[in-house]
Amino acid sequence: MQVNGQAYRCIWLEDDGRRVGIIDQTKLPHQFVTQSLVTVDDAVLAISDMLVRGAPLIGATAAYGVCLGLVADCSDTRLDEVCAKLIQARPTAVNLRWAVEKMRTVIAPLPLGQRLARAYAEAAMICDEDVQVNESLGTHGMQLIEKCRKDDGQPVNILTHCNAGWLATVDWGTALAPIFKAHEAGIPVHVWVDETRPRNQGAHLTAWELAAAGIDHHLIVDNAGGHLMQHGKVDLCIVGTDRTAANGDVCNKIGTYLKALAAMDNAVPFYVALPSSTIDWTSGNGTEIPIEERAEDEVLLVSGKGMDGVIHQVRIAPDQTRAANPAFDVTPARLITGLITERGTCPASRDGLLSLFPEHR
Ligand code: MRU
Repeated sequence: MQVNGQAYRCIWLEDDGRRVGIIDQTKLPHQFVTQSLVTVDDAVLAISDMLVRGAPLIGATAAYGVCLGLVADCSDTRLDEVCAKLIQARPTAVNLRWAVEKMRTVIAPLPLGQRLARAYAEAAMICDEDVQVNESLGTHGMQLIEKCRKDDGQPVNILTHCNAGWLATVDWGTALAPIFKAHEAGIPVHVWVDETRPRNQGAHLTAWELAAAGIDHHLIVDNAGGHLMQHGKVDLCIVGTDRTAANGDVCNKIGTYLKALAAMDNAVPFYVALPSSTIDWTSGNGTEIPIEERAEDEVLLVSGKGMDGVIHQVRIAPDQTRAANPAFDVTPARLITGLITERGTCPASRDGLLSLFPEHR
């Protein structure tokens, strides 16, 4: 995707062939800052502090994190240590485990002298694959938007939650990929962007991406979606997922479930866009998915640009108030109209997923 006329992916190998470049997403939308990761600990911190976030990008960063961890020592002990460090960085997005295990499977059988080069090659492949897969699910998802196209030329109104745009992946995004594709194809679209408390990924990231792409959108508070659906102002919802259970239950950013309930009550189609790397075939249903609990300060403090142009943090609750901060929730498959994958769209069910991915039978 383009930033100020320059093409960017969200993660890249720096010119020295060792360090890994990322966009520091904690600074957006007010500052566009890139950073180099040098050690595996840098990669772990980038993931846990959410400089990079979004399930596919977390996976890609972990893959390069394995490389960084092996630069000085490629032994089996070190490989185990590095993989363990990365896997515990965040618990919910299954792409993290998926990418680390993919790296380990490729590297472990090799002689020590071949491991590092192969690790970097595999991480690059994981990134390239992510781009292709997301572009492909974007094309499938665009067909669903096309079906909602209106004869009078009015835009198709799409509600999305959190950020599942290109910033959440290596490129293209998942839930936003169909929207970018539809916009490119000349289908008029308008996006309702949930602000997505507490980290405000909608306000900070999705709005920034849509503005940069010239896509019409409005930021809404997290509680507005149900009201808009009741008044016929949402044609479809598209969200991403951090982990999809084998039965089609979907775990995504906290608040997704409430949107799916409102969508069901108002007969608004509710789609989830996912690269197959977010399917956890070992989780039978959503209750088995670990839900990340994050720091209470994310709820108690809000940051933004002051009238002086400087980024400030302010406390929004009484000093003695404590906060709870579950970061994800599970939307049961019965509330989901369809799962948009790189191989097409299927019902949110075990049979639906297996019809597209029969190799997991
Ligand atoms: O906590 P985050 O910002 O990493 O959560 C991200 C989401 O919930 C996204 O919707 C999900 O990872 C899908 S991204 C393509």
